[in-house]
Parts: sequence; C-alpha cells; structure tokens
Amino acid sequence: MNTIIAGLQWGDEGKGKIVDYLTSSADVVIRSQGGNNAGHTVITNGTKYILHLLPSGILWDDKVNVIGNGVVIDPVGLVAEIQRIESQGVAVTPAKLLISDRAHIVLPIHKELDAAREIGLGEHKIGTTKRGIGPAYADKINRCGLRVADFHDSAFVTERITRRVAEANEILARYELPTFEADAVCAEVFTAFERLRPHVTNTIAVLHAAWKAKQTLLFEGAQGTLLDVDFGTYPFVTSSNTTAGGACTGSGLPPMAIQRVIGVCKAYTTRVGSGPFPTVDEGLSDYLHGLGREFGATTGRPRGCGWLDTVLLRFACMVNGVTGLAVTNVDGLDAYETLQICTGYQIGGVLHTLPPAERDAWDQAVPVYESLPGWKSDTTGCTRYADLPAEAQAYLARLAELCGAPIAFVGVGPDRAQTLAV
Ligand code: IMP
Repeated sequence: MNTIIAGLQWGDEGKGKIVDYLTSSADVVIRSQGGNNAGHTVITNGTKYILHLLPSGILWDDKVNVIGNGVVIDPVGLVAEIQRIESQGVAVTPAKLLISDRAHIVLPIHKELDAAREIGLGEHKIGTTKRGIGPAYADKINRCGLRVADFHDSAFVTERITRRVAEANEILARYELPTFEADAVCAEVFTAFERLRPHVTNTIAVLHAAWKAKQTLLFEGAQGTLLDVDFGTYPFVTSSNTTAGGACTGSGLPPMAIQRVIGVCKAYTTRVGSGPFPTVDEGLSDYLHGLGREFGATTGRPRGCGWLDTVLLRFACMVNGVTGLAVTNVDGLDAYETLQICTGYQIGGVLHTLPPAERDAWDQAVPVYESLPGWKSDTTGCTRYADLPAEAQAYLARLAELCGAPIAFVGVGPDRAQTLAV
C-alpha cells in the first residue's frame, strides 16, 4: 500500500516519527515539497537524529530515499546535513539517496532575501525559518529559478547566479543587509554540488518503475496543512503545497498510485512563526515548555501551544482525504486535570465549523470548547492501544468523531517503540 503522511496542523506534528515507523514496511521514502525549513526529529535506540532535507528512510540501510522535483534544495545546507548524519554513523550513498534533476536550488542569496522581506514586513512579518524557501519558490514560479539539471552546464549556472546576485544585492543594500560576491557564491554552490552530483537522477522514472514493480512507496510530508500556500492561514503560510496533492505534483506520481493518507496531528496544537492561532493557551504553553517540550528542531524557537482545534483538523482531513489519523504527543497531556477540545469558532455571532478565508475573521474567532477529563497517569510505557487509560481512549475517540477520520496510530513518546498501531 502506498501512503502519504500529511501534517494536519502548523507543522511539527511528529510526522518524522510516524514516517520512521511506517518506513519498516516501505521500499522507497519520498520528500515532495518544502526544503530545509522542515525539521524532523527521529529517536532510535536512544540516538537522536534531526533531519531537514533528507527523508527519514535514510536512517535505514535498505531503503531508497528520494528528494523529489517539488522540493527546493539548498546544496550547502544539504551537504552539511549529510556530513552531520554521516558523523552519527549513517551512510548516505548514491544507492540510498536519489535527488531529482528537476528540483529547484536555494541559493545563499535566497536566505538573505528571505530576511530582507521579513524586515520589510515589520510587525506583519511571517516569522519564516529564514531558509530562503519563499524566495526560491518565487524564482521557480517566476521562471528564473535554477534547477539541479542546470548544473551540467556550468556556464549557464554561473551566468544565472551572477545575474540573480546583482538583482539581490540591490534589494539587500536597501535593507543594509550584507551583499554577495557572485564569484564566492558560485564557488560555494559548485563545491557543494559536487558532493550531491552522484545522487542526481530522473527520479520520476525511478518512482514509476518502483510503482510498476509494486514496491511500497511512502511520501513524507513536510510542514502542515495550515501552512499550505492554498489551504493554510494565508499569508502566514509556507510557499509550497504541504497537503496530499503536493505529493503528486512534487514527485511525478499520479493520484491513483496512492491508496492511503495518514494525517498526523498532536493531541493538542502548536504553532511557530506569526499568524492566527485561536486556541493558543498560555497555561498549556508554560506547562509544556516547563517539561522541556515544544522547542523547534530547526530554529530552537519555543512553539506556541494551545488546545486541540477540530475546526482546523476537520478541514485538514477533508483537503488531504485522510484515511487514518496518527495522534502524537498524547503523553504531553498526561498530567492535565481537564482538557479542552475546540469544536467550532464563534465569529460575529455565527458558528463556524470550518476555518474562514477572510484574514480579519481570524482576529474575531472565539473558540467554542468542550471539556473532557484528563487521564492523569503516565502513558509513556503503554505498548498497545488497549493499555491507554479509559479517559485517553475517550479523548481520542471524540477527536476522531469530530474530525471524521478513524485513529490509526497513537504516539506516547519519542522512541520508535512508543508508536502504537490501532
Ligand atoms: P518558511 O517556510 O521558512 O517560509 O516559513 C513560513 C512559515 O512556515 C513560518 O510560520 C514558519 O515558522 C513555518 N514553518 C516552515 N517550516 C516549518 C516546519 O517544519 N514546522 C513548523 N513550522 C514551519
């Protein structure tokens, strides 16, 4: 069965852990959108791995990992990530990692342009990861991006970088940000690319061959539905389609190649960066931060935390076509007395059960809550769904009912062994 793993909230749902779990029965793991703005934490046998661009299947010896055409690749960042993961004893060979020749490149200038744009937005800033994701996708859509395949023609790449550096420098100077020397940028990017070159191939052909050979394909989503450029809380979103459809456009596999969509959400809600967050709760944020939880894997920023929001999850299940829910971080709520679940928003006296499109409606959204008793016991040692306390099972059942999708997995801790199949 071929599966998409999609984030249902604002990213950081614990997708890496679910991908890692499902990878045991997969042959190929595919990243199809986003870039190194993602941060997937996988803990195996007590060792912690943080992955940004590498698919989680890289931690296994016998899996093929694909960085698809829909991903934007920072070659310098990817080489650093490969070196880091190799220093932890994980081999990154051309047999294990395939990079699409159609993927777009994030240049060092894109990162500074990202920063410049944030400065320009002032108090309306998006709160990006400053990895250059927006500017790189903008170049792609604007038809002036660089693709991996362009590197067979170094004169073309040099010319394109030189032109983009000159254009970027004008903008950066305006914001008194450091400007770039085209020669230095070319040298840095070409050097990094040489490490990646053996991995480059037509991944579309590889994926179709794997599909025809009935291999098991696993799509590893990055970010979450509410950060999707179409379905998210625009403009406070990332620049790619983080939802199930992005798996097809970002890999070249058609929809009928996929049978299952696992939607991953936390047992509560978190968000980093700016933008609407109706169920944010200071008490819950302080509590989870006090436990050392909810600090970003990519930026280290503390995430805002709030109650489970089924307005968002219901919508996310719809647009992704979720066939099963993976609810992670259930153990984060272990000690709480009473839990809240948001079932709707009151906006101007009208009850909404789906997220609004209007920007100003978010400011007026008042969550409607339903209270459920907490389980007040340690779930981290549970190894089967039936081991979970009755209150935890009731909480999960209500979540599933409100979202319209069944529970498929439950996470009660960061280790591989702490993922329970239902
Ligand atoms: P960008 O993707 O760096 O352009 O950032 C746009 C928005 O997406 C910001 O709110 C970021 O915090 C958020 N974002 C991007 N990647 C992730 C992620 O992997 N987890 C959570 N939030 C993310």
